[in-house]
Amino acid sequence: MSTTARTTAPAPGAAKARDLFPPPPAFAARARINPSSWTAQRLDDAAADPLGYWEAAADALEWRTRWTKVLDWQAPRAKWFVGGTLNATESCLDRHARTWRRTKAALIWEGEPGEVRTLTYGQLHDEVCRFAGALRALGLDKGDRAAIYLPLVPEAVIAMLACARLGVTHSVVFGGFSAEALGSRINDASCKVVITADGGARRGQVVRLKETVDKALADGACPTVTNVVVVRRTGHEVQMAPGRDLWWHDVTREAQPVTEAVAVDAEHPLYILYTSGTTGKPKGVVHSTGGYLVGVARTMRWVFDLKDEDIFWCSADVGWVTGHSYVVYGPLANGATVFLYEGAPTYPGPDRFWSMIARHKISILYTAPTAIRTFMRLGDQHVKRHDLSSLRLLGSVGEPINPEAWRWYHQTVGGARCPVVDTWWQTETGAIMASPFPGMTPQKPGSCTKPLPGLAMDVVHQDGSRCADDEQGFLVIQAPWPSMMRTVWGDDERFRQTYWVQVKDPATGAPWYFTGDGARRDKDGYLWVIGRVDDVVNVAGHRLGTAEVESALVLHSAVAEAAVVGRPDEVKGQGIVAFVTLKDGRQPSEALVEELKRQVVGEIGSFARPDDIRWANALPKTRSGKIMRRLLRELATTGRVTGDMTSLEDFGAIAALRPSEE
Ligand code: WT7
Repeated sequence: MSTTARTTAPAPGAAKARDLFPPPPAFAARARINPSSWTAQRLDDAAADPLGYWEAAADALEWRTRWTKVLDWQAPRAKWFVGGTLNATESCLDRHARTWRRTKAALIWEGEPGEVRTLTYGQLHDEVCRFAGALRALGLDKGDRAAIYLPLVPEAVIAMLACARLGVTHSVVFGGFSAEALGSRINDASCKVVITADGGARRGQVVRLKETVDKALADGACPTVTNVVVVRRTGHEVQMAPGRDLWWHDVTREAQPVTEAVAVDAEHPLYILYTSGTTGKPKGVVHSTGGYLVGVARTMRWVFDLKDEDIFWCSADVGWVTGHSYVVYGPLANGATVFLYEGAPTYPGPDRFWSMIARHKISILYTAPTAIRTFMRLGDQHVKRHDLSSLRLLGSVGEPINPEAWRWYHQTVGGARCPVVDTWWQTETGAIMASPFPGMTPQKPGSCTKPLPGLAMDVVHQDGSRCADDEQGFLVIQAPWPSMMRTVWGDDERFRQTYWVQVKDPATGAPWYFTGDGARRDKDGYLWVIGRVDDVVNVAGHRLGTAEVESALVLHSAVAEAAVVGRPDEVKGQGIVAFVTLKDGRQPSEALVEELKRQVVGEIGSFARPDDIRWANALPKTRSGKIMRRLLRELATTGRVTGDMTSLEDFGAIAALRPSEE
């Protein structure tokens, strides 16, 4: 690793770091946390007593048995709320369905074709109980795993919660993943059941999800799967394997509702979510039940200043962690009204987002910089055509936001009246870690501001010593936190090696959590996250390991070797460039370029399609055989001169000139 982060956006802060956006007074006056609120007075206590802080946060959930000890920390093994038991759905559903919120909308869903479905807390509770009964009838029990491969329809939320109600650990696989990627995730977690749909609607087309599931399961490729439950969404004809495949509407009709949720230990794995790392194999990030819910419930309420009258829209798919934490568990634990949209952001027109915000009176929008940049390019007129006065708060997540996009979001979308919360976190952290409090923290475009209370984070050198102000180093987390990942599914050693051996407390030798991000801390203590310092790229907010794309490429019979790097992309943050050497006798051609791109789409999914394939006679390597990635990154950012897809990079000479790197 090197301290030079692969910048995914123009260096944030460089020129305009002095610009400060204090919370608009009208917002601050009504905010849950503002400089004069009772809570704000107590935030300093959190630093002195983080465990007390988290214990108070845990009181906001519904527990079956109260914990006896807040934290048991044997680095890197954390147990939070030791002895506590609970069921996530009791905090997210039952307790709301018992109050006036029974008739409050929990979900407002809009399909891409335009249909709208609303489920109240009472209805969502009933649907979850019924589907949990269906899963139980299929033999699922506490401790089992189920895979969820669905479009963004209400059934995705119902399926997740139904698993949780039984103590079944869910593994949601984003609908954009290929059959190969889905199959390997199903097998890694030995899932017994796959929950899918005939298809989803995207850009006016049908995404044939059931077909992909059939391909993943073909020829006994996933031997642990006994059943596939299929939601009828698009209505097109699908193959139903007798005995194995069942319709959602049939199994729920016959089901005995699970009115009594299964209590689990606070540490029980609520879900597994696969994310990319520096090797070819994605890691199954395991999240707990108790600590995870504490983290998402607290941040949902404070970072988004959530009120009962809000209509909250987090535009992420439930296939990513943002969807788990801020579409499902965080909002529902707070009894919020969540808006969900199934389809493409610019379908059927460039104003789809703004039209939905106006029609549904959405008050909080949480989206990704890549989307913001896309809308910015499409032009202000599409935003201005709609009445966005319902919006009161904006959020950003997934990658560094460049100050220009931040300003556009603030001004054009938010009318300068909505604070912008730039939230830094990761699949591994479970919940937001650094963010402004919208009613209290002055914002600086491009900075996620400061770590939230109860957390210890800093920017340090590789030896653990603290970086000076404005000096770039590694972003680390120096103490355990409730929503932290617990392990890599089935690979505890990988968990340790990936996160807990890189940086230590220089004073005590205690391990610190390594985020993989490079960052700076300015003189006000604000954090400026620059981007990844490892071989991970962030394409349109989707995290990908370059090694994963390389593994996909070398599976092709023509490929001898491949090296994949990211290059800055104005809209997507980063794009993917692959340098490929071919086997003897194989010739570069434009047809082969297309074949290789298809190969990657087939192995991973369409979001991983390389932007550019470049041929090389050999890959530039150091004397010890390490690929000179820095050189390749430099090359990748310089455009092709000829546009000739068959020209060959000659690395022989360059490699000889640069014997070592990194
Ligand atoms: C990586 C985590 C967090 C949910 C979505 C992505 C980058 C995320 C920010 C931000 C700068 C950010 C980091 C991080 N990142 N949010 N506000 N500012 N960078 O989750 O796929 O686990 O990716 O996304 O590089 O490590 P993920």
